[in-house]
Amino acid sequence: MKKIIVLMGLCLSTILFTQCAKKTASTASKAVAPSEEASALAKKYSAAQMAEGKAIFVGSCQKCHELFQPAEFTIKKWNKVLPDMCGKAELNAEKAALVRAWVITNAKQG
Ligand code: HEC
Repeated sequence: MKKIIVLMGLCLSTILFTQCAKKTASTASKAVAPSEEASALAKKYSAAQMAEGKAIFVGSCQKCHELFQPAEFTIKKWNKVLPDMCGKAELNAEKAALVRAWVITNAKQG
């Protein structure tokens, strides 16, 4: 009886271990994506559009709080915060996209 319990324990820990290993692998591959996102945006938007994005950002994003600079947060954090904040700032989709292009390309590495 004891042997069966030990065997089951071994099986369980093997399953748990492989699950954890899979998780680590998938977060590791995700970590590469944000910088690719930034370079894609840098290619897609012209310098003039980036400057416009910055101007909208400065004009619309310090009405309720201090202006948080792009470099203060990672791309991951900005991706979480921006949709909500662009809504709060009542930016239309076009303006929100320009702000996003400028913020993401200037975000903190990592
Ligand atoms: C209508 C008011 C309002 C406007 C306009 C606004 N924000 Fe915010 N912002 C908030 C509030 C309230 C919070 C804190 C609570 C929350 O996260 O909703 C916040 C939080 C944040 C945070 C999170 C800071 C942290 O430490 O986690 C960031 C970054 C941010 N705003 C950026 C922006 C940007 C960029 C814009 C312009 C697109 C913007 N905000 C426009 C109200 C606003």
